[in-house]
Amino acid sequence: MPAGDHDFVVVANRLPVDITVEPDGALSWERSPGGLVTALAPIMQKNAGAWVGWSGSAGFEHEPFDGEGMRLWPVPLSEQEVADFYEGFSNATLWPLYHDVIVAPEFHRTWWNAYVAVNRRFAAAAAEAVAPGGTVWVHDYQLQLVPAVLRLLRPDVKIGFFNHIPFPPVEIFGQLPWRRQVVDGLLGADLVGFQRPGDASNFLRAVRRLTGMQVRGPQVTIPGRWSRPDRQVRAQAFPISIDATSFDELARTPAVLARAKEIRKNLNNPEVLLLGVDRLDYTKGIRHRLKAFGELLEDGQLRVPEACMVQVASPSRERVEQYRQLRDEVEVTVGRINGDYGTLGRAAVHYLHHSYPMEEMAALYRAADVMLVTSLRDGMNLVAKEYIAARSDLGGALVLSEFTGAADELHQALQINPHDIDGTKATIMRAIGIDPREGRRRMRSMRRRVLQHDVQRWADDFLGYLAMSAPSHLEHA
Ligand code: G6P
Repeated sequence: MPAGDHDFVVVANRLPVDITVEPDGALSWERSPGGLVTALAPIMQKNAGAWVGWSGSAGFEHEPFDGEGMRLWPVPLSEQEVADFYEGFSNATLWPLYHDVIVAPEFHRTWWNAYVAVNRRFAAAAAEAVAPGGTVWVHDYQLQLVPAVLRLLRPDVKIGFFNHIPFPPVEIFGQLPWRRQVVDGLLGADLVGFQRPGDASNFLRAVRRLTGMQVRGPQVTIPGRWSRPDRQVRAQAFPISIDATSFDELARTPAVLARAKEIRKNLNNPEVLLLGVDRLDYTKGIRHRLKAFGELLEDGQLRVPEACMVQVASPSRERVEQYRQLRDEVEVTVGRINGDYGTLGRAAVHYLHHSYPMEEMAALYRAADVMLVTSLRDGMNLVAKEYIAARSDLGGALVLSEFTGAADELHQALQINPHDIDGTKATIMRAIGIDPREGRRRMRSMRRRVLQHDVQRWADDFLGYLAMSAPSHLEHA
């Protein structure tokens, strides 16, 4: 296969831009929010980088174009593929399977076939883009077959894979009818990264059990065939983070601080403002959180209007049935709590089914007394890290589910098992009543961690290990 021009290629399900097609057919785009693109931008610029991904719209087809200091390389998906590959296999099979089967994963052969076809298309685009001996970094569960397909097409390139979500124990992963193909897909990489050490060891156990290949520590040996020598694949944890310094700076700006004050005022200056910020996803434990809050109101431990909760639930995967159901359940629960405990002009839960720009999020974080992260399973949870980065005043308290990747790093958070409603209620009350000195001490220690281990360091760590795995000419930022 002829080689391309790019020494560094990122492959992710989504492009890092939101594209609009103007009425005259011209393209315009805006960089989508998110730490990944910020962390990779300098490396992209130094290495003539390209980003291969889907635009987010069915049927969108376009030649690669330059934007955001890199080559943007759209991969088209048809309506049917959006249904079968994206909504189906990625988000109704793999997503629930990898998140502790919170809802039942569905296994359909037509979805799997679409997953194979689309993964091949992404791999072919990466193979076309990458220069001889270049580096390709593949991201997340939607694209687990890309490493192996790409290796067949371009054995000269170095391949990294990072899984942004948990990797389940083999006892659950083993339910997948195509488990061996997925493991073989990932083993096409030189380095496979995970959020937590537990995810990496789950993967290594799956390799041992399902392939019989030799696993020693973090290293898998792929036996060579004919004249090809053995090959080593490394699996290890690289906990992702946010662009912490920028977030910290943003949250100190006068505009954000003024907005935080205004938010509290609009809520009638409550004594206690609780905050939840999530994609509307069943992994996030939003119902558990609402249950705990509702019971605190019922018991009289909290009262409206002295206490209220803001729940931002950004729309997500709205055509997938389990997400529709969740939305109905959350909205019924919010309505019930407000009906029971709200008063005229004073809601108990302010529920916002919107996405907001970073400035507004930073203001909400600064306004909140207690941040509630109650995920039932979560690869990392970057909201927890954003909250910490925003609190340069050392105020606020973080209630954090132990089932998040962030819990491995944020030991000073008030950790909960979100299934334990009584324990969650007690911890919320503890967060509300925390001695300010203790609160500051905890916040200071968590801030140290988040500000030092930012997304830049994460990318450098991963790419550093990848560079060691075989010769490369990738220049670091
Ligand atoms: C999670 C996944 C990402 C995904 C994001 C938003 O963070 O790890 O791969 O892009 O959710 O979901 P969406 O389906 O809208 O891309």
